[in-house]
Amino acid sequence: MNKTICHYTDILIIGSGISGLSAALRLASFYKIILISKNKINECASYYAQGGIASVFNENDSIESHIKDTLNVGLDICEKSIVEFIISNSQKCIQWLAEQGISFDMEYNSINKNKYHLTKEGGHSHRRILHCTDFTGKEIETKLINLVLKHKNIFVKEFFNAIDLIVKKTYIKENNRIVIGTYVWNIQFKRVEIIKSKILILATGGASKVYKYSTNPDISTGDGIAMAWRAGCRVANLEFNQFHPTCLFHKQSHNFLLTEALRGEGAYLKRYDGTRFMKEYDSRYELAPRDIVVLAMNKEMNRLGVNCMYLDITHKSSDFIKKHFPGIYKKLMEFGLDLTKDSIPVVPAAHYTCGGVIVNKFGMTDIENLYAIGEVAYTGFHGANRMASNSLLECLVYAWSSSENIINTTKYIIDIEKSLDFYKIKKKNINDDIIKHDLNNLKLIMWDHMGVVRTTSSLKYALNHINLLKQKIFFYYSEFKISSNLLDLRNLVQVSELMIRCALNRKESRGLHHILDYPTKFKISGPTILIP
Ligand code: FAD
Ligand code: SIN
Repeated sequence: MNKTICHYTDILIIGSGISGLSAALRLASFYKIILISKNKINECASYYAQGGIASVFNENDSIESHIKDTLNVGLDICEKSIVEFIISNSQKCIQWLAEQGISFDMEYNSINKNKYHLTKEGGHSHRRILHCTDFTGKEIETKLINLVLKHKNIFVKEFFNAIDLIVKKTYIKENNRIVIGTYVWNIQFKRVEIIKSKILILATGGASKVYKYSTNPDISTGDGIAMAWRAGCRVANLEFNQFHPTCLFHKQSHNFLLTEALRGEGAYLKRYDGTRFMKEYDSRYELAPRDIVVLAMNKEMNRLGVNCMYLDITHKSSDFIKKHFPGIYKKLMEFGLDLTKDSIPVVPAAHYTCGGVIVNKFGMTDIENLYAIGEVAYTGFHGANRMASNSLLECLVYAWSSSENIINTTKYIIDIEKSLDFYKIKKKNINDDIIKHDLNNLKLIMWDHMGVVRTTSSLKYALNHINLLKQKIFFYYSEFKISSNLLDLRNLVQVSELMIRCALNRKESRGLHHILDYPTKFKISGPTILIP
């Protein structure tokens, strides 16, 4: 038998989105870092971010107002101290990002050209979204990746798919566990390797790929949530998966987003006959928070028996549209749609995982030396509904706060004695079509039964189905060689189960959790916590 390859590092960061890259850059002066991504380094949700990052840079706006809007949109179950913590640290984190060379759009007129150009999105009472035209994520990722690749202390490994955390009991505190590394599937060489580290940061993003229709790239399979849960971490609020109202509805495109900034700049949501409908649902019309817009669209689509609604900004000048939304304009042209002339067919699609691995304000999880930052984490910031453009902000602030915590505390290494026997005994190759079939099946079940509107009985139906799938995966996993699709399926099934269990535990409708058996909102409520 060949010897297992084992890599050693001070800090292992799993994930190359804005949270993983920012943490790597903040830590690299002090430690040796390995940063892995399960696909190409730039293939992540962060790269596709369009709208931008929320922060207070307008003199009529205030930190208090940003806090108030976030709490309102989160529908009374945000952790107030965390909302205050993130928002009051936002400007300095944006400043850090600007120092890394990210050029946010500045005001277009010459009098204000030294000020950031700010857009507006749902739930925000002021213009406060900093952006790089309509490709904010691409600009940030490209610049941060360049810095990371050049840094002598950061070693990047693409196509390294983390399988499971390696955790040991420690007697430093009673019942405590410590992370000492991870097993990874080296996709190129099709073998299991080990990465051993003093500190491990999960920056693996969200789980919106549990759904058939999603705005997310294929990497968003909730791996970090599943791995942390299997290792013994608590998770919270997974019933709150956010659907974005305006994903392009077109047979050649399966996940193209039309940014909420379009509505911020005046775009209307319409029925196929050209009439606007949001005024019948909310006084903020198209700029109501996403949970409200999506429920309205869902209701209209069911009532009219149609597959999509329409986004229309044709009342603005062609120059204005092309200047503000060049990326979207160009992309839509590929599908034969002209944003300056056509109403664009749109549908809601799974977009963001508000729940995740429970962490404190430094990103520390229940396991010693294990941090979780970005969309994988539950910090308490988003409550029952995330306000637009608050996610990149949370990623940035936690990359900073976790790094500060790591730098300021002495961490220790425990030696690894784990065997790889489990991964070595499997011989047979699995037919990938079987896995793909199970994957499609799972995504459809989640879309149909854990979607925008739920019932207790359909959630239970979905859970039964998932329990059967779990048995199948257990069998696949013990009989066959690993494959990337098998790992995705295993994690997606795990996260789906947790999402449904959270949904069954919440016996009220609030924000993104709309359940017909319990149509009203409790006066007082809190997070849904699951303990392994
Ligand atoms: P990601 O950027 O998703 O990165 C996850 C990383 O983890 C990837 O590198 C992936 O390869 C790696 N990974 C995952 N599993 C494994 C594994 N098992 N092994 C190894 N590596 C692994 N938010 C905003 O605030 N503003 C916006 O304008 C905005 N627009 C958006 C537009 C789109 C289309 C989408 C999909 C999301 C948008 N969001 C936006 C949400 C925001 O982009 C994400 O929440 C945020 O980028 C998440 O960053 P992250 O670093 O946590 O994870
Ligand atoms: C968008 O640009 O509409 C996405 C913003 C977000 O998800 O925060």
